[in-house]
Amino acid sequence: MEQIKEGVKKVFLETFGCQMNENDSERILGFLKDIRYIRTNEPSSADLIILNTCSIRDKAEQKVYSALGRFRELKEGRPGLIVGIAGCVAQQEGQKLLKRAPYLDLVFGPHNIHRLPDLIGEISEKRARLVAVEQSASIDENEYGLVSASGEKAFVSIMRGCDNFCAYCIVPYTRGREVSRESGDIIDEVARLAEGGVKELTLLGQNVNSYGAGSDVSFPELLRLVARVDGIRRVRFITSHPKDISEELIYLFAEELKLARHMHLPVQSGSDRVLKEMGRGYTASEYAAKVKLLKRLYPEMAVTTDIIVGFPGETEDEFEETMALLRALRFENVFSFMYSPRPLTRAASFEGQLPLEVRSERLQRLQEAQREISLERNLELVGRRVEVIVEGTSKSDESEFSGRTSCNRIVNFPFDGAAGPGDFIEVAVTEAYPNSLRGEVPQQGK
Ligand code: SAH
Ligand code: SF4
Ligand code: F3S
Repeated sequence: MEQIKEGVKKVFLETFGCQMNENDSERILGFLKDIRYIRTNEPSSADLIILNTCSIRDKAEQKVYSALGRFRELKEGRPGLIVGIAGCVAQQEGQKLLKRAPYLDLVFGPHNIHRLPDLIGEISEKRARLVAVEQSASIDENEYGLVSASGEKAFVSIMRGCDNFCAYCIVPYTRGREVSRESGDIIDEVARLAEGGVKELTLLGQNVNSYGAGSDVSFPELLRLVARVDGIRRVRFITSHPKDISEELIYLFAEELKLARHMHLPVQSGSDRVLKEMGRGYTASEYAAKVKLLKRLYPEMAVTTDIIVGFPGETEDEFEETMALLRALRFENVFSFMYSPRPLTRAASFEGQLPLEVRSERLQRLQEAQREISLERNLELVGRRVEVIVEGTSKSDESEFSGRTSCNRIVNFPFDGAAGPGDFIEVAVTEAYPNSLRGEVPQQGK
């Protein structure tokens, strides 16, 4: 008994940033399980603390440093504790982090997750302080495929890295060059997840439409294969780059009903001059034409987007062009950000960096306008019946359930019958808010 206790160690893992990082955290836990680590929510009882970090904006990076600061005291009290930083800040800062935080033992980037058992072993043996940020040009399948099913939905990385080098973006530096996983390996992983009870799948990549460049399986073909796996009922994917979204993909929604009726298509700006400076490879009207086609073919399809306000040199008129695009396309939801200069990126040295007040005021205006639009879009669903996958209990009321529609809306509803995560239920929408819906389960026979 004592021996089992001694053999098992505890890891506290905190994840920042995007779904890609969430997925990497699952892989981190998978590799740690092999060397007998179990997860704890209590940093004070952990033998290993890992922060899986994001560096997309300066604020995200600063959040990491303040989180890290909290562990200094713990480490002082328990010198045997191992503290590590993973993810995009680890890749960006590397060795510099060891200087910045003398109590840090390990810095490892997104390409080095599979080395974790060896790195931990070396640290425990030699009390070495290690940095593992080498990037590799190919994917070794041993790095993937370890994620086990733990619920009704799962994420699967189909590729890593990005070759687009948008002028503002740090991702191509932190995640390296774009590489796709073999379709067979992806399908094997999906089949394993489905066997474990997963029903809704999200395929992940920075630019999923360029999946398989140079191989024989295109992204739409991969989607067909994935949707065919027994047990999978809904398939989502993020992120689509507007310049690469193909007609084949757009028309696939008509044929493949398991594809969720939602497309996340980041536009970034409504001004052609700004889009050009960003290096996005499309104009506002080319973008709008694609959204309009999607909406015309599939009226129930939700289209969401990302917007950056206050890009260097953005004039008031150019910002107004973004506002006009927002009003014209009436997105279901918008993720909007103040431009933040990032190390290594071209835009960080562009002229015309805008003061914080200008960026923040524009962001506020945009978010206010979008809140209205999101609410109007949600109101359109009131009185309709939607199918949701139950995800759990509602965040605000434990006695209610929360489910997600195919078009990616959250619906909260009271239900006294037996239901649990993974069940498909039809719900009648009764009320709408900017970020969610309320509904009720229709009585049988009505
Ligand atoms: N690969 C995805 C996006 C990844 S980053 C794509 O190409 O769409 C997610 C979002 O963060 C981006 O869409 C962008 O809106 C925002 N973002 C990226 N870099 C940023 C920066 N330097 N400042 C502010 N927002 C940024
Ligand atoms: Fe960043 Fe552009 Fe690549 Fe998206 S496509 S990750 S915004 S460089
Ligand atoms: Fe994701 Fe943040 Fe890295 S958004 S790719 S974790 S910089």
